[in-house]
Amino acid sequence: MDIKPATEADLPALIRLHDSAFGTVFEGRLVADLMAADLAAISLVASVEGDVILGHILFSPLLVEVGCDTALALALAPLAVAPAHQRQGVGSALVAAGLDEARRQGWDCAVVLGHPEYYRHFGFAPEPLQGFQAPFEGPAFMALELRQSALSGRKGRIIYPEPFGIPAHADPVPAG
Ligand SMILES: CC(C)(COP(=O)(O)OP(=O)(O)OC[C@H]1O[C@@H](n2cnc3c(N)ncnc32)[C@H](O)[C@@H]1OP(=O)(O)O)[C@@H](O)C(=O)NCCC(=O)NCCS
Repeated sequence: MDIKPATEADLPALIRLHDSAFGTVFEGRLVADLMAADLAAISLVASVEGDVILGHILFSPLLVEVGCDTALALALAPLAVAPAHQRQGVGSALVAAGLDEARRQGWDCAVVLGHPEYYRHFGFAPEPLQGFQAPFEGPAFMALELRQSALSGRKGRIIYPEPFGIPAHADPVPAG
């Protein structure tokens, strides 16, 4: 299995992949919108023999205000593995490769809304987000600090970029 950056040419296959993994059109549209807005900061595909796409992960810049400053934060979304290839380590390999690349690029933290059991394997936890006003709350809303103390013990606000369609001032939605 190869993991490499996604290209514009992969987009139709990525949309099909997300549609089939999630069973909705939202995530495929999100990938297209983030790519169109030049917000796909890290976008990796897992494939075999060059063209069969097994999985995809995307990280986009997230506005995380910390006091008067902003953190270099990424939203991890979406992640999908083709249904026939799930539970074979593809998703884990994509998360690990994405986080390695995020560290290499110097990002401070990654934030995800997802399965708590799954993301805990990679060190994500809800605790670093405790001091932050955000559109979500609860165990499924998690962060991983790539730079020590980027979020923990600090206060601030998290605002998703426009393609997510999440109003900045809505009451938080319980998640997980
Ligand atoms: C969730 C997903 C990305 C995981 O990728 P994957 O390649 O299947 O997972 P991996 O093989 O790397 O990891 C498997 C382990 O992760 C855990 N896991 C996998 N899917 C899980 C889920 N939905 N909830 C909780 N744990 C999960 C299990 O512990 C599993 O181990 P097991 O086989 O011993 O039970 C994939 O199943 C998928 O695309 N699902 C549909 C879309 C989705 O939910 N995306 C994530 C949104 S946050």
